[in-house]
Amino acid sequence: MSPLDPTKAASYERDGFLVLPGFLGPADCQVLRERAATLCAAYFQERRDRPVVFSTTDARHASEAYFLESGDKIRCFLEAEALAADGSLRVAQEHAVNKIGHALHRLDPIFAPFSQRPVLAELVRAAGLAEPVLLQSMYIFKNPHIGGEVTCHQDATYLYTDPVSVTGLWFALEDAHRDNGCLWAIPGGHRGPLRSRFRRVPGEGGADRGATEVYDATPWPLEQLVPLEVPAGTLVMLHGLLPHRSEANRSGRSRAAYALHYIDGRCDYPADNWLRPGSPSGPA
Ligand code: FE2
Repeated sequence: MSPLDPTKAASYERDGFLVLPGFLGPADCQVLRERAATLCAAYFQERRDRPVVFSTTDARHASEAYFLESGDKIRCFLEAEALAADGSLRVAQEHAVNKIGHALHRLDPIFAPFSQRPVLAELVRAAGLAEPVLLQSMYIFKNPHIGGEVTCHQDATYLYTDPVSVTGLWFALEDAHRDNGCLWAIPGGHRGPLRSRFRRVPGEGGADRGATEVYDATPWPLEQLVPLEVPAGTLVMLHGLLPHRSEANRSGRSRAAYALHYIDGRCDYPADNWLRPGSPSGPA
């Protein structure tokens, strides 16, 4: 039996996203949040000499090998506002990380079995991916006061296949509201073409860097964005061409989420995609 009834399938096809409240229970959310906190603590213990900032408004991260090489690793990326001018932390270390990526789904003893639950691949298959391949995972903290903005984008910009197939599963692990940086999306915006592509290109000194190729520089119709305010435990499925964003979190409450991205194994995955997932994870 398909995990998507005809009403939900039609809603996803119409809007480019689908909100499924109550998909996870409180215990699931808590286990993932606690595991992320443990990974953060280990990061500060082991890698405090190598902080890397992640911010979509700051392209420096794109040139960082730390980012480009994270496709088959578990790495922490600091918030842009977590560091003082002298490089020291200006917030508590448990509030300093922007995200953990990008192979939790394969390598982490807690996140991997969660990510590989058959029901998730079934959901993505019902959304149209005949051969779902789980390519990427991210834990996003959206920490109080400094949780960074994610500018309006299409996920296919970053995870391109020919034809486009990337599909996201975004799990709210805490309540997400406007004030703490919930998702916003343009209903039906997935019916437009891909506007840009972020690619790996040769950089100076033989190291790769990231570069964005823009096909259409028309500003996004931001007035059409609607907030996806959801309680903890909600799953939001996102089409790879759907324009979406999230605002900075200036509230005192975090807005943790876990995101998985799938592609269709039948589609071509170009060698110049930034993400190199390592040995194939196979059908999810
Ligand atoms: Fe996204």
